[in-house]
Amino acid sequence: MCGIYAAVSNKSILSELINGLDNLSYRGYDSAGIAIMNGEHIERRRAQGKIDKLSHLLSTNPLDGQIGIAHTRWATHGLPNVQNAHPHMTPKVAVVHNGIIENYPALRTLLQNAGYQFESETDSETIPLLITLYLDKGLTPELAMIKALQQLEGSFALAAIFKQYPLELFAARQGSPLIVGQSVDGFSLSSDQNAMPEQTLNTCNLEDGDLARITQQQLTVTNLSGDQIQRNLIARQSQANDTSKNGFAHFMLKEIHEQPSVFKSTFAHYLEHSNTQQSQQFKKINSLTNKISRLTIVACGTSYYAGMVAKYWIESIAGVPVDLDVASEYRYRKAPIQRQAAALFISQSGETADTLAALRHAKSQGQACFSIVNVTNSTMANESDVVLPILAGREIGVASTKAFTAQLAALISVTLVLARENKLVTSTQENEFIKHLNQVDTLINQVLSHQKNIKAIAKTISLASNALYMGRGSAFPLALEGALKLKEISYIHAEAYPAGELKHGPIALVDESMPIIVVAPNDELFSKTLSNLREVASRGAKICLLSDENGITQAKDFITHHITLPTVPEALQPIIYNIPLQLLAYYTAVERKTDVDQPRNLAKSVTVE
Ligand code: G6P
Repeated sequence: MCGIYAAVSNKSILSELINGLDNLSYRGYDSAGIAIMNGEHIERRRAQGKIDKLSHLLSTNPLDGQIGIAHTRWATHGLPNVQNAHPHMTPKVAVVHNGIIENYPALRTLLQNAGYQFESETDSETIPLLITLYLDKGLTPELAMIKALQQLEGSFALAAIFKQYPLELFAARQGSPLIVGQSVDGFSLSSDQNAMPEQTLNTCNLEDGDLARITQQQLTVTNLSGDQIQRNLIARQSQANDTSKNGFAHFMLKEIHEQPSVFKSTFAHYLEHSNTQQSQQFKKINSLTNKISRLTIVACGTSYYAGMVAKYWIESIAGVPVDLDVASEYRYRKAPIQRQAAALFISQSGETADTLAALRHAKSQGQACFSIVNVTNSTMANESDVVLPILAGREIGVASTKAFTAQLAALISVTLVLARENKLVTSTQENEFIKHLNQVDTLINQVLSHQKNIKAIAKTISLASNALYMGRGSAFPLALEGALKLKEISYIHAEAYPAGELKHGPIALVDESMPIIVVAPNDELFSKTLSNLREVASRGAKICLLSDENGITQAKDFITHHITLPTVPEALQPIIYNIPLQLLAYYTAVERKTDVDQPRNLAKSVTVE
């Protein structure tokens, strides 16, 4: 998704801006651009495609200066081409923008009627033109900026430089994140803390309604009435910002291999607290809700599927009914909200626009809101009553892997606390659970050590145009997650169904060209799934079965491929069975030579609705 990087420094700024863009690139983008104040004029360069195209352009047509703005664009309004790439500018001002200006059609008409011409199809270009309209009326840059901001509807973060103020950077935030960083050379500004340069000493999160003016020496923040606001720069926490692939071909593969240690440390984090009595955090949840009698879980994408696994766990182990919603539906669905109930929001980034809006909606309705996030200083974390961190470390691959596993570690911990609260597990049972959960890292390592077979299966799947996934019980959300991973990175159309639904439609699609991936742990539902498997086998389907040795033996006459997994207790199945599904998608994508870490059209953090 779009990213902003800007800086004002006592040094030449170009390499810092390019570096900032590189650090933003993991978010997904389709064009990039830079504008620099060269002392007299604002100059810009933009390119469609990857940042190296922009770098190439800059090597033949360089820019120099000490203050500049840069942007990676993920197209929303208008094609991903050079005209639509940011910065957008007039001779007086250049702007980079994240978010959506919802009233841009009206503003566009207003500006066109006033004689201003648009070069792009974007909503973003209304911002520099509107500011220019006020500059042309004789307003100072700060007043022109305030006037323009007051007219913008929607959510945005933006940075601007003015010809008239060649030593100042302006920034404003309404709904989209923006962070200021200070170093010995000056200031930087970004929509993503991961893009902050290593030498950053102090940071400050801007808040909604803030207008910041930044010079080499100083940060000043006002509101849109011009009143000064105190925003403190605080020492930057040291970041475990491991951005190398550590010898792996892709970040996704590296992150898949990090899962044993990530699960172990996330679970240990909660176990440590919850082993004796209750953790502070869990206590806080209970004090907010007294006793959780019903829980709403809301999320998007892979986080939503983690929530769906949790629904199975929490209902069956802790006896608490769970309402599960995709955030973009929940926020508008007008569901009656039970006062004093609890709502859980799951988000790796903590910035997903729909999940954040859903959280704000639930909060405004008096719900106790807790969030499971990876980025602990994200907007969602800041606005939740209780934050449960997943401590997965930075995830760079757009397709989420280790964050999912870490979310499951936090969610099984929540399940255990609720089960204990509801007296549905004895301490002996709880200890037994914990004993098994402490073996998860070894089990994941076991799965990771058998990749040869998965690679071979991926080779055949890579030739298909469509694939079906199926599973029952908590294997159903895994089927959904497996299909999502496959379509995200290999671009093979994949659908997932509860195995019992197959006869209600999808079986019509089954023939020899349709691989079917069946997620079927050898549990009490296995015999039911086996019947569904026979039904598709008798229609010529090529089946790949994920089960334990015993399950594979029972199905051996009907299947083409199998992935043998260790026999594990039911609660552990979602954690273990997800790993081969990730690998299957990964190797299929590698076989098809797609851009695994930055798949087309996708973004790591979806900050517009
Ligand atoms: C995007 C990403 C997914 C992620 C989803 C939700 O679609 O590509 O990998 O699962 O957003 O993101 P969140 O940060 O809220 O977990």
